[in-house]
Amino acid sequence: MFRLDNCSALITGASAGIGREFARQLAPRAGSLLLVARRQNRLEQLRAELLTINPALRVDVRTVDLANEREMTDLAQSLAAEPIDLLINNAGLGDRGDFATADYPRLHQQVQVNILALSVLTRAVLPGMLARKLGAILNVSSTAAFLPLPGYAVYAATKAYVNSFSQAIRVETRRCGIHITALCPGPVHTEFEEVATRAARPLRSAPEFTHVPVEDVVHAALRAIVRNKPIVIPGLVMKLGMGMTRLLPLPLLRFASRVADERDQA
Ligand SMILES: NC(=O)c1ccc[n+]([C@@H]2O[C@H](COP(=O)([O-])OP(=O)(O)OC[C@H]3O[C@@H](n4cnc5c(N)ncnc54)[C@H](OP(=O)(O)O)[C@@H]3O)[C@@H](O)[C@H]2O)c1
Repeated sequence: MFRLDNCSALITGASAGIGREFARQLAPRAGSLLLVARRQNRLEQLRAELLTINPALRVDVRTVDLANEREMTDLAQSLAAEPIDLLINNAGLGDRGDFATADYPRLHQQVQVNILALSVLTRAVLPGMLARKLGAILNVSSTAAFLPLPGYAVYAATKAYVNSFSQAIRVETRRCGIHITALCPGPVHTEFEEVATRAARPLRSAPEFTHVPVEDVVHAALRAIVRNKPIVIPGLVMKLGMGMTRLLPLPLLRFASRVADERDQA
């Protein structure tokens, strides 16, 4: 049985959005947090905030570019010396627009961060968790994982990887007391869209009713990890939408891309 109380958690992408909210919600309960991202000032600010919530908490910050293979593998190797019981592979980015005009550096970053760093960090912590017969891994995926998404082709494919990978290692480790969950949010107001938008062609956001507050997303995810759920889709609208997608993927895809095209042309 995995508990959040007094856990030692590593959160990637803790400088903004969903990752920062994970740190805030874990702060009153965790024993130590290791916060990873590129923007050191953001991480230091968050550290100060978390210590006001829980002065007994140990908070370490590490500035790492997870798209840089050397920095990312250095982080992974350093984890051998610091047992992690909860790994939250949250860092991620998208790129919105047609694949034919995608920039190579952005393609590379998506694959490195969304796929490679998530897998390498998991590989780094899993043997220790198996030896202790205790631990949890939360991989932040997306509802984009459930069907091909024109306009987000590479991003959606990276998230399909995250779901497939998470479910496979969950089965591999099922008898060893390790909890593995994929979090699949729909739209959430964070910096994600701003980062994903290409300067040349800003597009419209998803309708407001599909958005779920970041606090609710993180609350649902932490509950799911404790209950050892394979997948969590926060919010009723998205849950229903993804249920329909499983029944009717291709007709729904055609419908969704027609609606998106009409919205962009309006
Ligand atoms: N927001 C949504 O609508 C939504 C929906 C579904 C799934 N998600 C997923 O949720 C996760 C968190 O996204 P978010 O919405 O919170 O977006 P966000 O506000 O843009 O935060 C992304 C985080 O990832 C970090 N990051 C990005 N590239 C990195 C790199 N090369 N090295 C290290 N850290 C890096 C960023 O930190 P630095 O920039 O400081 O490095 C930041 O802390 C992502 O995996 C995303 O795919 C988001």
